Amino acid sequence: MRLALLAIPAVRSAVALELARDIEYHEEIGSTQDRARELAARGAAPTIVVADEQTAGLGTKGRRWDAPRGTSLLGSWLFRPAPGEAGVFVLLAGVAIARALEGLGAHDVLLKWPNDVELGHKKVAGVLAHATTDGEGGSLVLGIGVNVHQRTSDFSAPLRATATSLAITGTMVDRLSLLAVLSAELDRLAVDSDRSPVLAEWRRRATLLGREVEVTREGAPALRGIARDVAEDGALLVGGERIVAGEVRLVG
Ligand code: BTN
Repeated sequence: MRLALLAIPAVRSAVALELARDIEYHEEIGSTQDRARELAARGAAPTIVVADEQTAGLGTKGRRWDAPRGTSLLGSWLFRPAPGEAGVFVLLAGVAIARALEGLGAHDVLLKWPNDVELGHKKVAGVLAHATTDGEGGSLVLGIGVNVHQRTSDFSAPLRATATSLAITGTMVDRLSLLAVLSAELDRLAVDSDRSPVLAEWRRRATLLGREVEVTREGAPALRGIARDVAEDGALLVGGERIVAGEVRLVG
């Protein structure tokens, strides 16, 4: 439960100083992402909003992101100015999460376009990005959920086939350490203007590249083809098409 140490003002100040950004800790909140976007709209300085529990956690494509209290790292990082476009920064954040998890003892962390982080071919973390423009470099809010302490019984029956946690895969980590390591990795990528080596690392970790996939997009017929590459802006290249949003699954 070390994350709850952030409720102590002196601890929070020390960690905020170390991470060079404000920290807002909530025992319970609707969604750290909604709160960080509120702060972004008000012009707040770089902040991490972190919570022990969300009552209305947001996933991608309008889905919910649920986690029992105290089991997960649930945080939203407000960057100002925005370090990049949301589409590509979701991929970079995946690399930051993979590096952080491996730095803390996990092995072979893989990435599924666009925002899934996988261990043992199951999802262990996800990323959500919202960007705003304001004529002064704008802001980017990156929401990250990492399954840390869940046991199999904490996942609903249908999720058990596709979701996992660090604990289930044998990596014991405390969430405050993960917050610190991950924040440092995100900052490292945010200040690095040369995206090529990070995208190369993304490609090495990618589960879909070179394989046949089916893409489902709203308002468009399903598309089958080989996932060839990712573009500099984060789009997935499938056959001759650029995919910027959609559901992608392996065929066969
Ligand atoms: C996904 O669907 O893969 C993205 C999940 C992102 C979940 C995180 S948890 C912290 C932050 N607050 C939210 O409401 N969502 C993101």
